Amino acid sequence: MTARPETLAGVAETDLSGTTALVTGSTSGIGRETALALGRLGADVMVHGRDEAAGMAVVDELAALGTDPTFQQADFADREAVENLAAALRAWTDSLEILHHNAGGLFRSGRLTEIGVEYTFQVNHLSAYLLTSELLSSLADDARVVTTSSGAHRGVTIDYEAIGSLESYSGFRAYQRSKLANVLFSAELAHRLEQTGQSITANAFHPGAIPASGFGRFLPGPLPRLLSGLQRLPMTTSVAEGAATAVYLACSRQVEDVSGRYFVDRAIKTPSRSSRDRNAQRRLWKRSAVLLDIDEPLAEAG
Ligand SMILES: NC(=O)c1ccc[n+]([C@@H]2O[C@H](COP(=O)([O-])OP(=O)(O)OC[C@H]3O[C@@H](n4cnc5c(N)ncnc54)[C@H](OP(=O)(O)O)[C@@H]3O)[C@@H](O)[C@H]2O)c1
Repeated sequence: MTARPETLAGVAETDLSGTTALVTGSTSGIGRETALALGRLGADVMVHGRDEAAGMAVVDELAALGTDPTFQQADFADREAVENLAAALRAWTDSLEILHHNAGGLFRSGRLTEIGVEYTFQVNHLSAYLLTSELLSSLADDARVVTTSSGAHRGVTIDYEAIGSLESYSGFRAYQRSKLANVLFSAELAHRLEQTGQSITANAFHPGAIPASGFGRFLPGPLPRLLSGLQRLPMTTSVAEGAATAVYLACSRQVEDVSGRYFVDRAIKTPSRSSRDRNAQRRLWKRSAVLLDIDEPLAEAG
């Protein structure tokens, strides 16, 4: 049996009683494991996803631990739904200690959302950006913002033309761009929080290749079945191991002052050259605000 994420992360003795966490995409996979681990440590968790039945099942498991969880449904392709999620969070708590941006996936067929943005980019990146902007004033002084990126962020740059078009669409390329956006976003957030004198940290991580999560379910034909068959290969990671880095970043004392970094297996790793480009980080931050038609968050630090 695989050890639990909190054990793997070395935080099994941490007491999160009285703290709150929002884990996006916690109806399944890495997010679900992270939510349950934080609940076992005592945190009250807001569970999020589109699948209400799956979300309520996680809530039931968390409630059985003696915590006070809640579920909020929101489709991350719909900006109004993200704003509603943020409003529900603000009504639930005015001091959020853990914000884990995790919802997302690899989507084979392309489409543009209502705001004219390529679907993967909006679901995997823009919604996390919007949610952060909406929740900045609800974050506790020592809050931690954790973003699930991927090793797939390597080998691409952000192509702003492709974000507004489906010409030559490739699901994997779109996924790679969105995961690069996760690293750029996390680094810029960390930079701006530091510039504005805040102690909130922001870090991104790669959870490993995890065929046992629900990751493959949006792929066509036999691919989901083939992907889950890879579970036995040695280079793959269990869902609990993937969640362990999220739990580590969310509450380990070892990283209480670490921000703006990229982690793999609970260790700092150097992300791609494109993700370390300060201009690209700043540009994504500014362009994301324009795409969403909102004021640039933490603009004073830009
Ligand atoms: N599995 C891997 O090998 C791997 C590797 C690197 C990175 N990752 C990253 O890990 C994160 C979690 O993936 P996973 O592997 O745990 O897959 P998963 O089991 O499919 O979980 C994805 C979560 O995201 C939510 N989600 C997907 N589309 C959404 C949408 N349009 N609106 C709102 N929520 C949405 C899903 O909830 P609903 O279905 O209820 O909407 C689900 O809770 C993703 O960001 C993924 O890119 C995974």
